[in-house]
Amino acid sequence: MEMSGQPPLLEVRDLRVSFGAGKDAADAICGVDLTLNAGEVLGIVGESGSGKSVTMMALMQLLPSSSRTTGSVRFKGKELIGMPARDMTRLRGSRIGMIFQDPLTAFNPVLTIGQQIVEAIRLHDRDLSKKAALNRAIELLSEVSIAQPDRRVHQYPHEFSGGMRQRAMIAMAIANRPDLLIADEPTTALDVTVQAQIMDLLHKLREDLNIGMVLITHDLGVVAGAADQIAVMYSGRIVERGAVRDVFRHSRHPYTRGLLGSLPKLNGSGGPLVAIEGMPPSLRNRPPGCAFRPRCRFAAGICATEVPPLLPAGVVESACHVSQSLAENAA
Ligand SMILES: Nc1ncnc2c1ncn2[C@@H]1O[C@H](COP(=O)(O)OP(=O)(O)O)[C@@H](O)[C@H]1O
Ligand code: SF4
Ligand SMILES: [Mg+2]
Repeated sequence: MEMSGQPPLLEVRDLRVSFGAGKDAADAICGVDLTLNAGEVLGIVGESGSGKSVTMMALMQLLPSSSRTTGSVRFKGKELIGMPARDMTRLRGSRIGMIFQDPLTAFNPVLTIGQQIVEAIRLHDRDLSKKAALNRAIELLSEVSIAQPDRRVHQYPHEFSGGMRQRAMIAMAIANRPDLLIADEPTTALDVTVQAQIMDLLHKLREDLNIGMVLITHDLGVVAGAADQIAVMYSGRIVERGAVRDVFRHSRHPYTRGLLGSLPKLNGSGGPLVAIEGMPPSLRNRPPGCAFRPRCRFAAGICATEVPPLLPAGVVESACHVSQSLAENAA
């Protein structure tokens, strides 16, 4: 909810991204709306290829020039789409931090972790001396629970374990105390124990620093404990969204229900996450109407022709022609 006339931290309206030109053009993102308030965590969930990363890269204006982005992305009220590259660069890494799935690609292998954090700090605070920035880097490593930070700060990325690299990337992302952190599959490359530690760390940062977060994942289990709001993506659209517990308990969309049904049991007895039968469509073979139709056991005639709009359905919003008539939890 908007408070005292303050704009939301992040407000995305009708975001569209296409790749290629002419008859080869393909729409990767087809009209995404998102709202995130200060200090909130929004989970974006969907299978591989649903458009999660493209959405993130569009928000940050990091897509290749061969792509076309339209719509509106407002950060604290300021429009980012079309913002001059220089201003956008300043915003990234100061007010908005990013963490990716693979920290190795985010670090330069020939520079120490400390040199890279110092660089990130001084990029946005030029007056800070190298010595002071190094001390700050050590503080940051300690903040993300890296032991012996004064020794670790001088090591190279390859000397860090995967979990430690992810911690170091988080340290770099929060170096300038951003208002917003965008985390794209931050735990996907890590083993389960380390995953939980990184999620704990993100949770702590959110509590301590009141950072708003967009948490992107293909794993509903990851957002269950971490997010306030959840948006489920399928083939370039948000097909369902709401408060996390509402989506978990009162989902109306057959796709979300399928994802929920395939959640592994918490005690591990359920085995690996089994996806819903079938595959998501490729960008160039998206069926008309509802993109989920080929995999949907509730499909009706209208589903083949009309794209279902995202509309209130019980306590959530759902983009399904049939969801209004589906009894809750009947799937
Ligand atoms: N640079 C690009 N050029 C063309 N197509 C792309 C590009 N980047 C992503 N796509 C396509 O956009 C769709 C969404 O991709 P992505 O956002 O990476 O999915 P995910 O949800 O797994 O993060 C995919 O079909 C992908 O092939
Ligand atoms: S709109 Fe139709 S095809 Fe799409 S999810 Fe709903 S019932 Fe299934
Ligand atoms: Mg991705």
